[in-house]
Formats: sequence, structure tokens, C-alpha cells
Amino acid sequence: MRPLHFYIHTFGCQMNVHDSEQMAEYLTREGYLPVDSPELADIILVNTCSIRHKAETKAYSQIGRFRKYKDNQPGLILGVVGCLAQHRGKDFMRHAPYVDLVVGTHNLHLIAELIRSAEERRTPVVETCFRDHVASIDVFTKPPEGAVSAFVTVMQGCNNFCAYCVVPYLRGREESRRQDRILEEIRQLAGYGIKEVTLLGQNVNSYGKTLTGGESFAGLVRAVGEIEGIERIRFTTSHPKDLTDDIISAFGDVATLCEHIHLPVQSGSDRILDKMNRRYTAVDYLKKVDKLRKVCSNISITTDIIVGFPGETEEDFSETISLMKEVRFDTLFSFNYSDREGTAATSFADKIDDAAKRQRIMIVQDLQKEHTMEKHRALMGSIQEVLVEGRSKNSEKDMTGRTRTNKIVNFEATTDMIGELVSVHIDRAFLHSLRGTQPSGKEVASW
Ligand code: 5AD
Ligand code: SF4
Repeated sequence: MRPLHFYIHTFGCQMNVHDSEQMAEYLTREGYLPVDSPELADIILVNTCSIRHKAETKAYSQIGRFRKYKDNQPGLILGVVGCLAQHRGKDFMRHAPYVDLVVGTHNLHLIAELIRSAEERRTPVVETCFRDHVASIDVFTKPPEGAVSAFVTVMQGCNNFCAYCVVPYLRGREESRRQDRILEEIRQLAGYGIKEVTLLGQNVNSYGKTLTGGESFAGLVRAVGEIEGIERIRFTTSHPKDLTDDIISAFGDVATLCEHIHLPVQSGSDRILDKMNRRYTAVDYLKKVDKLRKVCSNISITTDIIVGFPGETEEDFSETISLMKEVRFDTLFSFNYSDREGTAATSFADKIDDAAKRQRIMIVQDLQKEHTMEKHRALMGSIQEVLVEGRSKNSEKDMTGRTRTNKIVNFEATTDMIGELVSVHIDRAFLHSLRGTQPSGKEVASW
């Protein structure tokens, strides 16, 4: 029998991207082959996100579009995995009776087995139970040929129950991965030529809490900092309440820890932060930003902001704007509050209407554009260390890479530089990227 080909379409965050890589690993181990077009696939998996209503709508439309492939190929298996699958479970079949497989967040390790039973039974297979241990947390993935950076899961799940957030319900309770396994995987990645690792988890700062050996996130970062060949460490996501001094100090003394932190603030109003169950105040947040900048003056700080949380007044919103002006984030992701079934905030009074949310999000985005441009312009004339990731999408002659502060830089170079750390002189600043040239002399990165 010829090998079966699979195609994974991924929605959502970096955790989801990595979950797809883990599923691909499980499938290739079982002899399935990846393809990069759904037309060529015998199995199509849609890895879904449920964080906001819009993410769900997108996933449903994509699944609907994939249905047409079944007309040409009746044997095709169409599967839905991840958060939306976890959320809807069996109900999914009512929305989309043509789906063959629904696999929740704790069952990715069974993907090959579940596909086989869907093929044999030709009746839909649903597996969405929660488990005490999420087996896929510990799978080692092999990076694709030529890859420069890789994700590594350090924990999964979340115990925080922010009032708006569906994640604790869909990914379950926090679980930290064993430190020795994390380090072993990273050493293996370094052996494959990986230069940059991003440590992943819903709340990486609480790493170690479910382990018994006194492990901590700061300790983990320091241990990764010792691994030869790994030139850059990043991590995401951090909860401000769990960002301890020892993690902050790692930015000062772990040479390979990049000068960037994504630190979602969500709101600048204490009243709203309290209603969100975030367990810090705007001042607590500003103090952490101060400490980060004391330890590492050029650190890039990015954030998430939700506008229109239930009960958010104009005054609450203006506090968010004040906080933005005080911090001057490098960039941010802004979201209109979206009611999620099962979360505390769905039952809160004083829902904000869509027009007000639209107006507020525009104000946030316009202000952020100014701040981002201000940060990018400040880099003009400097020399930045860039890890070359590959060809630029816009020009054949250009390579693209990132600064340590996670800014995209395009510059003219040759493909043999992929995977190299090079110095680039920044000539021009745009909203989403920088443009530079390689210095001719012996100039070295100023950061
Ligand atoms: N509505 C709007 N934004 C949300 N986020 C999470 N849940 C919701 C929701 N119900 C945002 C938060 C979080 C980011 C990943 O998504 O800002 O940090
Ligand atoms: Fe959701 Fe809050 Fe957990 Fe982040 S910390 S995943 S926002 S519940």
C-alpha cells in the first residue's frame, strides 16, 4: 500500500504551530508523509484556535472549504484538532457532519491511531478526554532541513482563569515538562544546527510548580544558556504577576537570552484588571517594566491589550492609553473583547457595544503605530546582530532575519548566510520591518 499523505492547516498561536509540528512528528514516525498542499493529501487536519469568536469562525469556514476535496476523493479523512475540537467535542458533528475526526488538546499523541480507526470504521471518531499527563508535551520534533530556530514546550495548560479566557477550560491545568528532557531536546536541536530556541508555554513563568525538584523558570533559562550551539533564547508567554526578580535578572546575565519580552498587560485600569482576575495593578506592571529596563536598558517590550471588556468605561480606557504612553511598547496585539462560553466574563453586566470597541481599538492601534515607528526610527544608524532566517518574501536578492529584540530586518545577501549571525547596519525603518546593509568594515553590533 502506498504511504498516506497528510496536510495540516494551523490557526492560532505559537503553541498551536508547535502542536502541529508535534502531530507531524507522530505521523511521520508511523510512515505518513507530509505534503504542502491539501490537494495532494489523503488526510487533512485543521488545527484550530478558540481564543476569540473570530478565530472559531475562521476555522469553521476553512473546514467548510476543505469539504470540497472530499467530492473528488471520497476516502479523504478530514480531521479537526486542538482548541475548537476540545470546545465542541461531539457537537462538532452537528455543525459539520462530514468531519471524520475530532481530537482535543490532550490527545494529539494518539493522532495516528485515531486516523486509523476513522479509516477502518468510516464513522466519525471523537477523542476529547482530559488526561493527568499530556503525552505530547514530551515529544522531540525534528526541525525541517535548513531551519534556524525551533519551539520547545516547557509547560502547558493554565491555572490562572482570567475572567475572559477559555484556555484553562480547553487546555486543562498547568503541567511542567521535566527539565532534563527539555535540555536533552535542546541539545539535540543544537546538533541539528538550530541556533535559536523559543521556550513555549501558556504561562512559562510558573514553570516548575508541578515538578518536585525545586525547578524554576529562571533556573531553566540559565541551564539552556549553557547549551553549546544555542545562540539565542526566547520565551513566551509571561504573566506579569509571575515575572519574578530572578527571571528579570536573567536578562542581565544570560548572554544568549534575547532582549525581548512579551508581557501581556490587557488593561491599564486597576478596576478592569481586578474584574479580569489578573492579580496585578497598573503600578505593579509599571514597576516590572522599570526593573526590566534597569537590568537591560534596550529590552523590547511587547504586549496584548483587550478593549471593551464588560464594564470598561471611557475613563478605564483612558487609563490603558496612559499606560501605553508611559511604557511605550515596541509593538502590541490588540483585541476586541469577545464573549467565550463558560468563562466568568460572559455573565458580567455592561457589555460594551461593537461600535465603541471598534473606536477604542482604532485609538490603541493608531497610538501604537506612532510608538512602533518611534522605536524603529531610533534604530536607524545602529548596527544590529541579525540571525538570518531565509529569503525575504519581497525580493529575490534579499535575506530576512531578526534582531535580538525580535524586529524583522531585510537586507541584500546570499543564501549561504542562512543560519549565520551577522551585523547589519539599519538604514530605514518601516512599521513592520527594518531595512539594512551589511557593513563593509569591521563594525560590530552596537547591541
Ligand atoms: N476576548 C478578547 N481577547 C482575548 N484574549 C484572550 N481571550 C480573549 C477574549 N475572550 C487575548 C488576550 C490574550 C491573547 C492571547 O488573546 O489579550 O493575551
Ligand atoms: Fe488565558 Fe490568563 Fe491563562 Fe493567559 S494567563 S492563558 S490569558 S487564563
